[in-house]
Amino acid sequence: MVEGPKGATILLTTRFTELFDLKYPIMSAPMSGHSGGTLAAAVSEAGGLGSFGGTDERGPDWVREQIEIIRGRTDRPFAVGFITPLMSLLEANFTAALEEKAPAIVLSFSDPQPWLRMAKDAGALVICQVQSMEGAELAVAGGADVLIAQGNEAGGHCGTAAMLPLLVRIAGRYLELPVLAAGGIATGRALAAVLAAGADGASLGTAFLATPEAIEVPEVYKERVVQSDGEDTVFTKVYDLIDGLPWPEEIGSRVYANQFVREWDGRDREIVDQREALREKTSAAYRKDPEVAAVYMGESAGDVDSIRPAVEVLTDICEGAEELLQRPNS
Ligand SMILES: Cc1cc2nc3c(=O)[nH]c(=O)nc-3n(C[C@H](O)[C@H](O)[C@H](O)COP(=O)(O)O)c2cc1C
Repeated sequence: MVEGPKGATILLTTRFTELFDLKYPIMSAPMSGHSGGTLAAAVSEAGGLGSFGGTDERGPDWVREQIEIIRGRTDRPFAVGFITPLMSLLEANFTAALEEKAPAIVLSFSDPQPWLRMAKDAGALVICQVQSMEGAELAVAGGADVLIAQGNEAGGHCGTAAMLPLLVRIAGRYLELPVLAAGGIATGRALAAVLAAGADGASLGTAFLATPEAIEVPEVYKERVVQSDGEDTVFTKVYDLIDGLPWPEEIGSRVYANQFVREWDGRDREIVDQREALREKTSAAYRKDPEVAAVYMGESAGDVDSIRPAVEVLTDICEGAEELLQRPNS
């Protein structure tokens, strides 16, 4: 197989792989509460860009510990992700990631300033995950190094736009910037499709949930992902309304459509009125009962059929994409 300059094969060499000196054009998405140093290290060591979600109640010491875990296992680059609308609640975590000189910072879900500037001043490359053209405009104006076009297919929090039209518009407008696709990608076929559409790679969350290295993810949640046919997820605001955190109006989350969501989705006024009681119920179910607690997973869960090491997930998707790009009719 022909190798590109950085160890990536020619078909998988993109501006993203060159920027981070990667073998594979894949980032494991920052997933708050669901990803830590163990998963990030496995992905980075295998040739992707590993990341973990830094917006975590365990605080700045936990963030430092995860970075130490990564650095103890690999000398490859990695990223730490932050949820900008929640930054004021856990800003010390962000400061810790900058002080530890994380090579890359991912900012998602609202205007990335002033954190984008702070991250760049600290020497990090900044990857902005956006859900709309307006979000892309803010990220580019702020000096983002990489954009992620995140679609509504994605697991976890996301906007309402579908990934492919958003990706195509962003890649076509900001020709100078590497763009990743996020949402619905867990196969070589899907990766090949977004590369052909102009993406420089993809950010995958759901595909990495069902890995042994995702030690943050309860086994019962992993089982849900494996059992999913991809049609049992729903975009909802139920859990955000219960939590009462300051998410932007246009953001909701894609979760497993469990009994609780089927009962409460769309009953916004009633949820707010009964917030305390509902919060008690979801808190008691957290990490235990997937029919009540939020199980964040995307439509690509339908392509995840077993719990497999992260390196296998990464290499299978990339080798599959490469084969398809060589022989598109196979
Ligand atoms: C369990 C879970 C938690 C997530 N948490 C975050 C987060 O903290 N910050 C963030 O920017 N994106 C988060 N996301 C979204 C991912 O960054 C990414 O956009 C998404 O996983 C891509 O779609 P996919 O799940 O189909 O691969 C989360 C996704 C999942 C599945």
